[in-house]
Amino acid sequence: MIEPVIEIIGFTKIYESLTAVDRLNLNIEEGDVFGLIGPNGAGKTTTFRFLATLLLPTRGIARIAGYDVVRQVRDVRRSMGYMPDSFGVYYGMRVWEFLDFFAASYGISRYRRRRIIDDLLELLDLGHRRNDAVQALSRGMTQRLCLAKTLVHDPPVLILDEPASGLDPRARIEIKELIRELRSMGKTILISSHILHELADICTHVGFIEGGKLLAAGDLQRILEEIRSHQILEIRVIGAERREMERALGDNADVTDIRCDNGVWVVDFTGDDEAQAQLLASLLERGITVQEFHQRRVNLEEAFIKITRGEVT
Ligand SMILES: Nc1ncnc2c1ncn2[C@@H]1O[C@H](COP(=O)(O)OP(=O)(O)O)[C@@H](O)[C@H]1O
Ligand SMILES: [Mg+2]
Repeated sequence: MIEPVIEIIGFTKIYESLTAVDRLNLNIEEGDVFGLIGPNGAGKTTTFRFLATLLLPTRGIARIAGYDVVRQVRDVRRSMGYMPDSFGVYYGMRVWEFLDFFAASYGISRYRRRRIIDDLLELLDLGHRRNDAVQALSRGMTQRLCLAKTLVHDPPVLILDEPASGLDPRARIEIKELIRELRSMGKTILISSHILHELADICTHVGFIEGGKLLAAGDLQRILEEIRSHQILEIRVIGAERREMERALGDNADVTDIRCDNGVWVVDFTGDDEAQAQLLASLLERGITVQEFHQRRVNLEEAFIKITRGEVT
C-alpha cells in the first residue's frame, strides 16, 4: 500500500461552543492536487492551519510526509510550504529581500539563497521586479511572491489557502498555470477554494466541506464523467395525455426517472447527446407536440455530492 503524503484522521476543532471541524478524515497521495471546496466558514482554514502546525486539534491526528503535525513540528515544516489566506505586507522590503529573509529563516546559506531566489523569481515571472519594493506589486504579483516564499525550502508538499481568491481573471489563470507547473515538478498540493469551478481544471481530486464536515471526496475526472452521464431533461409538451407521455418516456432505456412539475416533464437521463436527440425524435414520431426540450444545467457541487453519496446510480 502507498503511504499517503497527507493523512488526516478524525480531526476535530472546537472553539468554545462552535465545532469548526468535525471528525475529518482525508488521505492525499504523492503527486495529487487535492482541492478542498467549501463556503466561507466551512472549516478549510482551520484544517490547513492544523496541518501547517499552527493550531492544536481538539481531537485527531495528522501526518505530512509521515511526520506527526503535533509532535514532529520541525520535520513537518521542512516538508511543507504553507501559503495562508491572508498575509502581512513587509513594508520597505524589496522583492528579493523578502524571499531572502524567509530562506535565511530556514537556515539556507547565503550562497544557496542567491541561486534559489534567482530560480524562484524566474519560475514565478517576477525577475523584472526583483529590486522593487514589495508594496509596489499588484495583487496578482504579491500572490505570486507569497507562493515563491512558500517554495524557498523546496518542500515536497504545498498547502495553499485560497491562492486565487481576490485576483482578476488573468492573475487567476497565471496562478493556475503555476500550480500545474508545480504539480509537474512532483509536488503534492492541497488547495482550497469556495468554488469548484475555480479548481476544476487543475485538481486531480476534490473534497467538499460544509459546516466542518467533509461531505464527499474523490477522483475529479471520474466524478465529472459520472455527472455528465446523469443528465436531467426538461420537456414541455402541448396537449399530450399524461399516460401517453409516461409511456413514451418510459419506453426509453436511458430514462431512469420521470416526474411532472407544473406542466414540465423532468426526466433523469443517462444517455449521450445522440440518445437525447433520439428521444426527442421518438416523441415527435408519436405525434406529441413538443414545445420545449432541453437539458438542465447541473450544479457541479450538488451533483458531485449526490453521486459520491450514492444518491444517483
Ligand atoms: N480563532 C477562532 N475562534 C473562534 N471561532 C473561529 C476561530 N477561527 C475560526 N473560527 C470559526 O470556525 C469556523 C470555520 O472557520 P474557517 O476554518 O476559517 O473556515 P473557512 O476557511 O472554510 O472559511 C467559522 O465558523 C469560524 O467563524
Ligand atoms: Mg478560509
